[in-house]
Amino acid sequence: MAAIRSAAISAAAVVAPRGFGRRRCLVACLAAPARGALGVTASASASASGKMLPRSALHASASPASSTGAPDSDEAAAESLVEAELSKLACPICYYPLVSSIDHQSAPSKSDSSLECSTCKKLYSKDDYWDLTVAVGSTEYSETMPAATELFRTQLVSFLYERGWRQNFIWGGFPGLEKEFEMAKDYLKPTSGGIIIDASCGSGLFSRLFVKSELYCLVVALDFSENMLKQCKEFIKQENISDERLALVRADISRLPFVSGSIDALHAGAAIHCWPSPACAVAEISRVLRPGGIFVGSTFIADVLPPVIPLLRIGRPYIDQITGNNTFLSELELEDLCRACGLVNFTFVRNGFYIMFSATKAS
Ligand SMILES: C[S@@+](CC[C@H](N)C(=O)[O-])C[C@H]1O[C@@H](n2cnc3c(N)ncnc32)[C@H](O)[C@@H]1O
Repeated sequence: MAAIRSAAISAAAVVAPRGFGRRRCLVACLAAPARGALGVTASASASASGKMLPRSALHASASPASSTGAPDSDEAAAESLVEAELSKLACPICYYPLVSSIDHQSAPSKSDSSLECSTCKKLYSKDDYWDLTVAVGSTEYSETMPAATELFRTQLVSFLYERGWRQNFIWGGFPGLEKEFEMAKDYLKPTSGGIIIDASCGSGLFSRLFVKSELYCLVVALDFSENMLKQCKEFIKQENISDERLALVRADISRLPFVSGSIDALHAGAAIHCWPSPACAVAEISRVLRPGGIFVGSTFIADVLPPVIPLLRIGRPYIDQITGNNTFLSELELEDLCRACGLVNFTFVRNGFYIMFSATKAS
């Protein structure tokens, strides 16, 4: 145990970049169970069922001080655990960790409402969610994304999404939310106890299920759409879900605001066909996953009607050029892309146009 702890300390000291306040980084590593880039959490390994331990047990494992059972030290340990998790947030411009903008040396805490890049000094703020997009703060510049990204930024589609839109995916072979969640959980089992990003979360239908399942110490609900994230926040309130282990983040999938190798799992439901560049996105997913971390995605697939394939293959580049979108991929292309980005053990389930697949970051 002592050896693991000292290995964790030296690893953290080596990776803590210039300007990040190494002392706080070490404190975080000590306060929280060694996890993420360093491997399994104490809570994960102690949990035979794969569920997170109850809060008190979690705190006991997070800090020696909490073993007294005193509520104050419990709270402090919980806070330092969350701080440690939020310290995985990185500047989307230079990928260095974000620190509290008030105390420039310290790791962010959940109550901070503005963070600063430890190197370029750019400030990022939180209103309903953390806006960690590259161009946030620009006043004159604005950029239009491809249609599939812009469509989901509208208030109307964001509002309708969980109120009928998503349910229609069943016609394409999607098994429905509950079944999809069960399948995703199965693929993600080896990462329970860690940090999961629900990428392109939309209004947070899966993010909320991940939080409720208590399988992860932190769930990051991430989307590019401001309105989807607002919907997500509303549903969280309506369903009375604790946001203790939840962070809402606005980011582009091609520029993920996380420290490299710091994330245990990434789930992306019904999303790849909406991404401007699946290649840049999967490369980013591979960058942020720790070795052994798992990527689970679902999407509509292109090759279900054999006679149409040649036409699709010939016509697709032209359709993509005109629409600015990347239309649906085949399972072979998905596997190829994952492999090209350093993700191995590709496996999948198909149903009609639906595919759910999983790939693991090579160790
Ligand atoms: C069809 S919805 C999927 C929502 C949810 N994951 C589900 O399973 O129903 C696709 C989501 O991808 C998001 N999206 C599109 N382009 C994105 C990008 N460049 N970066 C991050 N998310 C993006 C959209 O905002 C939208 O919420």
